[in-house]
This record gives sequence, C-alpha cells and structure tokens, in this order.
Amino acid sequence: MTYPIDMTLRPDVSAHFDEATNTITYIVKDPASDHCAIIDSVMDIDYAAGRITYAAADRLIDEIKARSLTLDWIIETHVHADHLSAAPYIQSKIGGKIGVGEKIIAIQETFGKIFNEGTEFQRDGSQFDALFKDGETYMIGDMQAFAMYTPGHTPACMVHVIGNASFAGDTLFMPDGGSARADFPGGDAGELYDSIMKVLALPDEMRLFMCHDYGPNGRAIQWETTVAAQKADNIHVGGGKTRDEFIKFRTERDAQLAMPKLIIPSLQVNMRAGTVPTDQNGNPVLKIPVNAI
Ligand SMILES: [Fe+2]
Repeated sequence: MTYPIDMTLRPDVSAHFDEATNTITYIVKDPASDHCAIIDSVMDIDYAAGRITYAAADRLIDEIKARSLTLDWIIETHVHADHLSAAPYIQSKIGGKIGVGEKIIAIQETFGKIFNEGTEFQRDGSQFDALFKDGETYMIGDMQAFAMYTPGHTPACMVHVIGNASFAGDTLFMPDGGSARADFPGGDAGELYDSIMKVLALPDEMRLFMCHDYGPNGRAIQWETTVAAQKADNIHVGGGKTRDEFIKFRTERDAQLAMPKLIIPSLQVNMRAGTVPTDQNGNPVLKIPVNAI
C-alpha cells in the first residue's frame, strides 16, 4: 500500500487533555480554510453513579464555535476501551460525519456476543457515517487526510495521517510510555508490532500525536513526538528491537495488566459510535455481563 503522504501540508492542531481518562482529543484545522476535524472525543461518565455528562465535549464545541470553524469529521481511531466517545453528542450540536475503520464490524460481532445484544444491534457499522479502508482518503476543507490500517491493539485500529501530523491512536504511546496492550479480544502483539513499523515508516519529521499519556515516572503529561524520536527512543520498539522480542515482552506485560476501569461502559457505547444503548422502554441503560470479558 502506497499512502498519499504530503509533508508540505501543516494542519493546525489543538489538544485537549482529559484528566479523568488520560485521553487527548484533537481539533485539527485545515490551514487554508475554516474546516476542521475532531479526533477521539470524550464523553464524561461517573460510572459508580451511572451518570453521563458532557463537559469535555462542550469544551470542544465551545472552541469550534469561538473560532467559527466548520466541523467536517468526528474521527475515532478505534473502539476505545477506556473512555466513552462523545461523537453523536457533538454531531447533534455542530454536525460532522462520524468515521471509524471498516473492521469495526469485527468488534461489533465480538462484543455483540459478549454483551448478549439482540438483533436490534446492527453489526454492519451502520451507526457510523463512514467506514474507512486502508489508505482511504477524505477531505477536511481543502486538506486531504488518509486512514492507515494499524491492527494489533484492536482489530479496527487506524492511524489518521493529515499532512505532517499523524494521530497514532493506541498504536504507540510517547517514547517513554512504549506501546498499548494487545490482549483485548481480537488484539495481537505481532500485528501491533507490524502496525507500529508502518507508523515508523512514515517520514522522520512526521509529527505524531498520542491518544493517551500517563506521565510515566512522574513527568508532566505530553502528547506530541515525531517518528524519528519514536524510532530512536521508544522503550518497547525503538533502537531496533525485534518482532520476537516485542511479542514476548508485550505478552508477558499484558498478562499483568488489570482491565481498564471503564471497559464495560466504553465498549457498549463505543461499538455504537458513542450512542448509549436503551432498554425496551427507550431508557438509556448499561449492562454488566458477568465473567464474560
Ligand atoms: Fe484503546
């Protein structure tokens, strides 16, 4: 696959860090127009209380309105297991098309079973406005973006490349954070390594924006790095670590990790593009399948 890389295009990127989930949401603006995209938005949940609110999403909406931008796209790099997407909420307020990787269908199949969903839960990706194929391009104003298929963390992960800025999703963390886990259903450490190599094959000067940062060893939160920095310094794949070394390390590490606190609500909502499921009376409700994940 040859990707349409254009390093001369330099989008304006504004980052919003969500403290509750350590997620970074981006507003990516076309330098030549007032059009923009949102990447990986967050909907707030107090899981203990079963309460969903929209402060993080409202901050994005407020910024887009204050800058008089037109929202073309609301992109999900993947079906997140650690936070809920606010995509439909944002769409209802300021428009934009919701896009995700075409392999979402595999995620819907897997988790449709785990959550014992009925036939009203469509497993065809129809909750989204666009299902991206590997290398597929789309426009943000006059700016061409493309999606790059990067499975491993999940089977539907994609990295979005917009000019000289790439949105890594959960393929990579900052160099001192390494990589994301590969042990969710459909995840695969070897595939993750191969996907990371695709990202690291982008130009050295490519800006890389992370979806998460946890400030390892007490450092301040960061989200921006480059391909060159990752190749040199990433603690899991940098400095020429082999595929076999990575698989061994990743598999052993993943066996030690607890489930993300919000995995159960996140998957139910995010496999529906960010819509909360409802009961037979139409009331929003979340399930807790016991011993199923
Ligand atoms: Fe993730």
